[in-house]
Amino acid sequence: FRCTSAFIIRELKIWIQFSLVDRFIYYFIICLLKKNKGGYIYMSSQVVVGTQWGDEGKGKIVDVLAEKADLIVRFQGGDNAGHTVVVNGKKHVLHLLPSGVLHEDATCIIGPGVVCNPFVLLEEMDTLKKGGLSTDHILISDRAQMLMPYHKVQDALEESANGNKIGTTKRGIGPCYADKYARTGIRFHEFVNFETFKERLKECVTFKNKLFTAVYGAEPMDYDKMVADFAAIHDRIVPMIKETTHLVNDALDQDKRVLFEGAQAAMLDINYGTYPYVTSSSPTSAGVTVGAGVAPSRIKTVCGVVKAYSTRVGEGPFVTELLDEQGEWIRTHGGEYGATTGRPRRCGWLDLLVVKHANMMSGLTDIVITKIDVLTGLEKIKACVGYEIDGKVYDYIPSDQEDVARAKPVYKEFDGWTEDISQMSKYDQLPENAKAYLRFIEEFTGVRISMVSVGPDRVNNIYIHDID
Ligand code: IMP
Repeated sequence: FRCTSAFIIRELKIWIQFSLVDRFIYYFIICLLKKNKGGYIYMSSQVVVGTQWGDEGKGKIVDVLAEKADLIVRFQGGDNAGHTVVVNGKKHVLHLLPSGVLHEDATCIIGPGVVCNPFVLLEEMDTLKKGGLSTDHILISDRAQMLMPYHKVQDALEESANGNKIGTTKRGIGPCYADKYARTGIRFHEFVNFETFKERLKECVTFKNKLFTAVYGAEPMDYDKMVADFAAIHDRIVPMIKETTHLVNDALDQDKRVLFEGAQAAMLDINYGTYPYVTSSSPTSAGVTVGAGVAPSRIKTVCGVVKAYSTRVGEGPFVTELLDEQGEWIRTHGGEYGATTGRPRRCGWLDLLVVKHANMMSGLTDIVITKIDVLTGLEKIKACVGYEIDGKVYDYIPSDQEDVARAKPVYKEFDGWTEDISQMSKYDQLPENAKAYLRFIEEFTGVRISMVSVGPDRVNNIYIHDID
């Protein structure tokens, strides 16, 4: 329970009956609060983050919330993400573009914290265009890093050579972030002047070729071909490159609605995830501040997406993993195959220590539960509430992944339900056992559940509280 001014306003909105007099009082109070807090009090900034290992169904939730957004900003990651969108009845898998891109009235920004492969970006834009959608509303931050062809090659070489394989998506994400922090990366503003870009490219390719041939025994990359490929996309990419940080902050100043869209999820966070089996960015609400260039005090709502069970792709410990028929049952019923790599996802019971960990880092104001319909038909459902490691029960996730790998889950068991819940639109319609499961998630995490997704379609949702 956080008694902030924003919280009070939200509660006021619920309790005040909107007669004209009440409205007057309500706006008068908002104006007063704004004046006192330099205008930061009623801005509308929402963050959507994953709370597990990704693939929670964030794309659908963003798509729903984006309906009211003026700006949609991706703040980290690259084309390692994967979400399915339906364009004119046809399914397309997008990797780099924000899921909110279908809302053509909102400006879609590839933020400064993103590592953006421009070739993938154009491919995705072409896919949308073929589906009859406009892509004129897409901008790239001039501070975003360019993910280059040699990053992808390096990712694949490192994965095959590395004894400590991570199981990456091989999209070049890690090497691109590594170059960023080594301060040798190329940013989009450097692409504008093609002549100076070519010089930077030459330096980088020369260095990478030494690395590829001498360390990995691989073939060198062809600089001239790379120049020709970039020349071919130059005219399409350059008009999209803009200084977006002011754009986002100005929008917040004007009380426009800004939606920050996270990719991946808390347990893949570079600092607080299951290191080293993580991605190379910060997919938490903290990532918004560095990845989009907004101050922490400007974030209002943080919506954590929680899948009703757990999945993970790639290597690394997974305490609630089910390596038996039960896991296979969840994989089949939930269609748990990677959108980016097609890999079967590892499946298991919901791990509430993981969600609690995500809440600690992101400060969730709301939870959205997804794919609870997948659990229909199970006699018993389990949720992990502790890790037993060498006889001691932990109520938090230890940092050392070797400890986590030895952990045995402490479960709370729930009775299942058999009713088809996929067409339900009201919380009261849900079976009592499903409600008990949801109530426990709220109690354990201390965060209210504001929405429950009961099916893949945009309309298959139960709304409980406004997420604003
Ligand atoms: P990378 O991000 O490609 O470097 O991969 C690092 C780890 O993050 C691997 O275990 C990937 O499977 C995982 N990963 C990256 N992006 C996603 C995602 O969007 N969903 C789920 N897992 C992901």
